[in-house]
Amino acid sequence: MKILAINGSPRGEKSNTQTMVNAFLKGARAAGAETEVLLLAERDIHPCKGCWACWIKTPGKCIQKDDMEEALSKLWGCDLVIFASPLYVDCVSAQMKTFMDRMLPGILPNFVKINDVWRHPLRFGTPPKVGVICNSGFPQLEHFQVVHHLFERVVLNMHTEVVMEIFRPGGEILRAKSLLLKPFIMKYKKLLEKAGKEVVKEGSLSKKLKEELEKDIIPPDTYIKNANAYWTKQLEKLQNEKG
Ligand SMILES: Cc1cc2nc3c(=O)[nH]c(=O)nc-3n(C[C@H](O)[C@H](O)[C@H](O)COP(=O)(O)O)c2cc1C
Repeated sequence: MKILAINGSPRGEKSNTQTMVNAFLKGARAAGAETEVLLLAERDIHPCKGCWACWIKTPGKCIQKDDMEEALSKLWGCDLVIFASPLYVDCVSAQMKTFMDRMLPGILPNFVKINDVWRHPLRFGTPPKVGVICNSGFPQLEHFQVVHHLFERVVLNMHTEVVMEIFRPGGEILRAKSLLLKPFIMKYKKLLEKAGKEVVKEGSLSKKLKEELEKDIIPPDTYIKNANAYWTKQLEKLQNEKG
């Protein structure tokens, strides 16, 4: 199984998203998968111009010469694509949305109705299955409602299905340096590895493991208390610097 993980965090390699992706892919590789990561923060991918050239003038190709052509060939060549993003304004990051807009050359212009839903047929062969990894600042699962719904729709356009969704509320905990928190973070990373193995072996993530992954790493009240203390300290520091 070939897995392509697309990381839409502007923080790139240092993101909480990448911490999650790395642990998941470690497990996937242990189960025999071939894995690749695409860090959108390090790529030159411009927004779609809405010119329809990829449908008419240069069918299947965007007229913009940037890193998207290579990215698309990777996307249509893998078995599982993981859209990994931080939660930004209740949705995926702008980098990830830009990437998804630029997937347009992969579909044909005409409309067809499949299971009562209008769609565009695919231009290229078999689409990859889809996985979602997303982490938020707020420590509540409700914040992922839009992302869940977004990918329900995205897979209709891609003529495929979501085989795993991993949501990490309060994801900023993953960069905590405190020794006290280390064992809890390690335990969560091990669960992510287990998920990687399971998805490769079983083809999807079980409900049981998904629920385990969604459990609080630390109590939300403690997370909020620490977050507020952190931001207050930062602002006080600034005040002191200003004098
Ligand atoms: C512009 C911006 C918008 C954000 N919007 C949300 C949001 O709507 N809900 C939320 O829970 N966190 C929000 N966050 C917090 C991020 O999701 C959080 O910091 C996350 O851990 C970043 O992950 P990363 O390190 O993978 O980029 C936002 C952060 C930024 C910078």
